[in-house]
Amino acid sequence: MKKRGLFISFEGIDGSGKSTQTKALADHLRNIGRDVVLTREPGGSPGAEEIRALVLQGEPDRWSAETELLLFTAARRDHLERVIWPALDKGSVVICDRFADSTRLYQGRSGLRDKVDALHALMIGVEPDLTILIDMDAHEALPRAKSRATAEERFEDFGLALQEQMRTGFLALAHAHPKRFRVVDGGHSAETVAAEIRKHVEDHLS
Ligand code: ADP
Ligand code: TYD
Repeated sequence: MKKRGLFISFEGIDGSGKSTQTKALADHLRNIGRDVVLTREPGGSPGAEEIRALVLQGEPDRWSAETELLLFTAARRDHLERVIWPALDKGSVVICDRFADSTRLYQGRSGLRDKVDALHALMIGVEPDLTILIDMDAHEALPRAKSRATAEERFEDFGLALQEQMRTGFLALAHAHPKRFRVVDGGHSAETVAAEIRKHVEDHLS
């Protein structure tokens, strides 16, 4: 029989604590003896990291909405083929900082949701076993996101209104898929948030 690991994605607006919490969960699971692959999107494989630079750097209007959707989908396909599927086949826990829900919301935001769903069905076709949504007020999250000085600012440049729209959209997705999603309040201390996430993952594993 084919071995199958566990696929966990983290979602939430920029600055909500995803990269902090994915690392904390990976450390915890490794400490209890699980094999963990910690990865992220866009990126996670050498080819997809090259696409990451194309989509996250430069001017906000660098790509049309359609081209941007194709680039994110191409990056995801490479990441799946080269990293996620092989890791799941050998029984690892894959923890991915953002996955297809981000595309549904960010690329689907301007009337392209049907195309997002069609491409997902055609080229991706998998969902995580568990999705941790770190929910957070957009006003509180934006200064956290801005405190990191990087060149990857195409989406952060869209500002507070986009973050608020994304927050509402993530909560709606969680509501529509309650079996897959667990919503945690990102406004608490990092330790409190980490403990809540550990509990959700332990419940799922048992
Ligand atoms: P994301 O990956 O969702 O953009 P990060 O984990 O990179 O978020 O967090 C953004 C910033 O906020 C970082 O400087 C991080 O240290 C800080 N941070 C993360 N979680 C918390 C928390 N619960 N409380 C306060 N600051 C936090
Ligand atoms: P990320 O590095 O996770 O940003 P942050 O740590 O600030 O949350 O992702 C960078 C940006 O890429 C983020 O603003 C959301 C965007 N994004 C999409 O638009 N579509 C996608 O499919 C993914 C995975 C990310």
